[in-house]
Amino acid sequence: MSLSVQNITPVIGAEVSGVDLGQIDDVTAAALRRLLADRGVLVFRDQHLDHEAHKRAAACFGNGQLHCHPLAAISGSADPAVLTIKATANSAFVAGDGWHTDVSCDPAPIRASLLYMHEVPENGGGDTVFASMTEAYALLSEPVRDLIGNLRAVHDGAVPWRQGYGKEPPAGTEYNRTAHPLVIAHPDNGKPLLWVNRGFTTHIEGVSRLESRHLLEMLFHHIEATPRVQCRVRWDKNTLVIWDNIATQHHAVWDYFPHTRHAERVSVVGGELQAA
Ligand code: SIN
Repeated sequence: MSLSVQNITPVIGAEVSGVDLGQIDDVTAAALRRLLADRGVLVFRDQHLDHEAHKRAAACFGNGQLHCHPLAAISGSADPAVLTIKATANSAFVAGDGWHTDVSCDPAPIRASLLYMHEVPENGGGDTVFASMTEAYALLSEPVRDLIGNLRAVHDGAVPWRQGYGKEPPAGTEYNRTAHPLVIAHPDNGKPLLWVNRGFTTHIEGVSRLESRHLLEMLFHHIEATPRVQCRVRWDKNTLVIWDNIATQHHAVWDYFPHTRHAERVSVVGGELQAA
């Protein structure tokens, strides 16, 4: 395959052409892993994948082990490794409509997610905005880096439900709660990156509640309100996007109600996070 790459911004994201994700060989997989570590978000248009091909493509990333989401069955998927992400005129809330890293509450969080689009809203919208955590960290001043460098924060899987959707997590679903360093080393290139997100991070350990709340709010605001660390992906039917779930976070914009958007996500796990 002859891979062609066009960056979305100088900092994050690339459109990749010349690749059929249903037929990846070892050389292409290695090239895509390098590209993902470099760009954080890879966009592939006009892909034709069934569940098995989607899962095979995902297994080329992380440690190759597919992530089984606690909500897979509730999402309408018969396969525990495939998460349905669908919003319709009947939806009261939509998964991913807020800044987050996928299930950062896990002790060994998702390393990469591959989202495949089946239906886009008929009137436009439904973009996903991504932010580079390497660049977000790089833009912090030296005194703030010193302040957060040795801190850890708790990530709680019930938070998207209670704070995001205004509901208790569905009965029978179980979520992790894990403390991770605020600044971690990227598993591939060792670059330091900021690892807190509004979706899951509840508090910083070892400081007062007031300090934790304001410090986290300052970091969330820095990530969410700094367009130069972000890129915005527009979807078509059959677009597949891979994101590095350690080096980026994202917000799926729900601006298309009452229209339908339907996608499926397969994710792979990685190892435990290491402090930078
Ligand atoms: C997600 O957070 O995994 C969903 C992203 C999207 O729907 O664009």
